[in-house]
Amino acid sequence: YTRAEVARHRTPGDRVWVTHGTDVFDVTDFVELHPGGPDKLLLAAGGALEPFWALYAVHNQPHVLELLREYKVGELSPEDASPAPGDTRDPFAGDPPRHPALRVNSLKPFNAEPPPELLTQSFLTPNELFFTRNHLPVPSVEPGSYRLRVEGPGGRSLSLSLAELRGRFPKHEVTATLQCAGNRRSEMSRVRPVKGLAWDIGAISTARWGGARLRDVLLHAGFGDKPPSAEGEWHVCFEGLDVDASGTPYGASIPFERAVSADAEVLLAYEMNGRELPRDHGFPVRVVVPGVVGARSVKWLRSVAVSAAESPSHWQQNDYKGFCPSVDWDSVDFRAAPAIQELPVQSAITEPRAGAAVPAGELTVKGYAWSGGGREVDVSLFFFWTWRAAFFFFERPQRFFFFAWTLWVFFFSVAAGAFFFFVCKAVFFFFNVQPDIFFFFWNLRGFFFFAWHRVFFFFTR
Ligand code: MTE
Repeated sequence: YTRAEVARHRTPGDRVWVTHGTDVFDVTDFVELHPGGPDKLLLAAGGALEPFWALYAVHNQPHVLELLREYKVGELSPEDASPAPGDTRDPFAGDPPRHPALRVNSLKPFNAEPPPELLTQSFLTPNELFFTRNHLPVPSVEPGSYRLRVEGPGGRSLSLSLAELRGRFPKHEVTATLQCAGNRRSEMSRVRPVKGLAWDIGAISTARWGGARLRDVLLHAGFGDKPPSAEGEWHVCFEGLDVDASGTPYGASIPFERAVSADAEVLLAYEMNGRELPRDHGFPVRVVVPGVVGARSVKWLRSVAVSAAESPSHWQQNDYKGFCPSVDWDSVDFRAAPAIQELPVQSAITEPRAGAAVPAGELTVKGYAWSGGGREVDVSLFFFWTWRAAFFFFERPQRFFFFAWTLWVFFFSVAAGAFFFFVCKAVFFFFNVQPDIFFFFWNLRGFFFFAWHRVFFFFTR
């Protein structure tokens, strides 16, 4: 086929054709099945896939090519088989440099976690080691020209510069842990395959965030403590400056009540551990929603809007939702499930690692525990057939809401040559506890892996 012939196939009515290399594919029957949504696939209709795959590098995997091969209908004619037209410059070329200790799960977009043994080294995760979850290239923002748009009631809107956000609103600080809904997904995929990045136990980190309270900004814009009307549910929607190939930004929303609650401490943060936000974590301004799934803490914030509907964003509507284990990709209906907000209680052992050979004598076991929704947790460790309470190595403030994780430690005396295993479980403030097995929580996106964490290893010396 010539490229002109391929270009005539742009809609399901005319059949949807695409090229990859010199091959031509009719992907009409796959359009509705496309995990990123039919609209995203249709952007490439009638042309080459390469420019889109350069942006969504998750496609560059053998199983995706294998799937594509099923739809092959022919090849480009020799005169048209020269490199695909269009801009294939690397959209990720402007991403910032990263710390070499990070364990990379995907390079483009960049997704990485700190190694477990560094994760619990300090209560606040150093900015350079904080896990990173990006869906798109990192935008380059000039702080002098940055504006945050806040849609006020009655169509009025505010536009705030960085200096105004810093100067007009009191600076508020909160220590909060962010966790991705996919943390520990690699354990879930051992039961049955799931779609998503294979996070180990490090898609979680803690920082002291500084910025303006979202509550103060919304009140300043003209909203009150109550939603604009008593009818229905109201939401606060956020958009980022990172955009996909169609110009659509990353977006998410939280319920209005959480956004204006003084207790919930939702921030428009411009500081992370006393420094300006790093580029990977949302420079110059991001939302931080303590106690809630990381996906709602929108980075590179460009707009805030109060709405009678949740964010229309793909990541609010068609991702970051939980399903029953029987739901598969043929039966899934994203509209039927609520968007994830608070996460369940979680804990994991960071040291020693599974399979590690550790010296006999004094053994230190370390880990983290965190409760979604911001309540305290207690941790016990199963060892020698009994549960023992762990110690906390950082003083915890006595507060009703506690948005940071708890780092815990346990010391044992061990003899040489023995085989041991440890299990940890966290119990949260209201005595909800992590489940022992995860089999019944399997879900197709691999979210909420929050079963007991088990580590098996030997002592050899
Ligand atoms: N905000 C924007 N604009 N773009 C994104 O890709 N990823 C979200 C959230 N905010 C994302 C975003 C997800 S899924 C998570 S878990 C957190 O950011 C991760 O924040 P971090 O990268 O600072 O750890």
